[in-house]
Amino acid sequence: MELPGWDGSVVLMCLFFTLVGVDSFSGNLPPPKNLSLAWDPHNLSVHIHWREPAGLGTKCTVNYTLAVYYEKCPPRQNASDKRRTIRLSLNYPFSREDEICVGLTTNPMVCENKYASKEVYKGLSPPLALVKNFSCLYYANKKMNCTWTIVKNTPDLQLSYREENKNKDSLKHCTSYLTYGTMKTGCHLHDEDLTTSAKVYFVISGTGDNHLINNRFMIDIHVSVKLPKPKVSITREGEHLHFQASTPNFVAPHCLKYKYMYSKCNEKVRHWCYMCFAAY
Ligand SMILES: *[C@@H]1O[C@H](CO)[C@@H](O)[C@H](O)[C@H]1NC(C)=O
Ligand SMILES: *[C@@H]1O[C@H](CO)[C@@H](O)[C@H](O)[C@H]1NC(C)=O
Ligand SMILES: *[C@@H]1O[C@H](CO)[C@@H](O)[C@H](O)[C@H]1NC(C)=O
Ligand SMILES: *[C@@H]1O[C@H](CO)[C@@H](O)[C@H](O)[C@H]1NC(C)=O
Ligand SMILES: *[C@@H]1O[C@H](CO)[C@@H](O)[C@H](O)[C@H]1NC(C)=O
Ligand SMILES: *[C@@H]1O[C@H](CO)[C@@H](O)[C@H](O)[C@H]1NC(C)=O
Repeated sequence: MELPGWDGSVVLMCLFFTLVGVDSFSGNLPPPKNLSLAWDPHNLSVHIHWREPAGLGTKCTVNYTLAVYYEKCPPRQNASDKRRTIRLSLNYPFSREDEICVGLTTNPMVCENKYASKEVYKGLSPPLALVKNFSCLYYANKKMNCTWTIVKNTPDLQLSYREENKNKDSLKHCTSYLTYGTMKTGCHLHDEDLTTSAKVYFVISGTGDNHLINNRFMIDIHVSVKLPKPKVSITREGEHLHFQASTPNFVAPHCLKYKYMYSKCNEKVRHWCYMCFAAY
């Protein structure tokens, strides 16, 4: 009561002690600084870079854990992927432009009595969408149709594409658009580079909100194959009927499995088989 100023300085000294204590005794490393993210202009990857935390000291070597979340920051779900690196940057590939959040922690490698830092976050939003529901169907040898739904009317909309692994300058323009009225709603592609094992990188570009916008997509052709209806031939071999289906010429025969369904006259039961010789 006689010394009000004295009370205050005790409190201050305790506070000071605890703050210093977090850094030098209880052992959490400082988090990385200046985490930044940017979409790569030439492919569907994100450049992630950051700076070493301040005050590591010369005896301390660290590496970093990068966690990727498909949601807005701060994340509620667990990370979809985690990577460790000793470097201060990373190029992370995505399969589509999405809302992402990246978390980064500093980890001790050689650093006595130190634990991983708290995680710091940085988010990145996808660009404005000119289209949605972009999808492709590979329906014949080297032929594919890609379609989309228009979100914003974009008179100068254009589709370009290249095989994923080709040079970034090798983008080709769509030459045969599918249209609905005056709007471009798809593209018919007929191209030597289109094989069932290829991955194709697409860019839809156009002016939106007074500047050029790119929407990028990656299509894995082998999961976009649309098989034609098989033609079935039935031949008689003695007591048996032999079923055979036509094979499309653009898919390796070993990738296909056929299921034949048949029923006998006056019988309700449906039979099925894969390699078929049906007794009759
Ligand atoms: C890095 O982050 C610090 C704050 O943590 C900030 O003061 C500084 O301006 C940033 N530097 C750059 C180059 O962004
Ligand atoms: C996150 O992971 C932990 C353990 O790895 C698990 O117990 C928890 O259910 C997961 N949470 C979600 C939202 O998936
Ligand atoms: C994307 O391009 C950058 C160069 O701009 C390159 O470093 C990176 O490896 C590429 N990523 C993928 C997934 O192709
Ligand atoms: C990072 O450091 C930990 C702890 O020393 C080690 O187990 C891990 O292999 C290191 N990873 C990389 C990529 O440096
Ligand atoms: C198009 O995408 C939206 C979500 O962006 C989805 O709700 C809708 O079902 C899709 N439509 C078609 C025809 O695939
Ligand atoms: C793809 O587009 C072409 C040209 O419009 C058309 O002839 C063909 O039937 C389409 N194929 C499929 C599977 O939609």
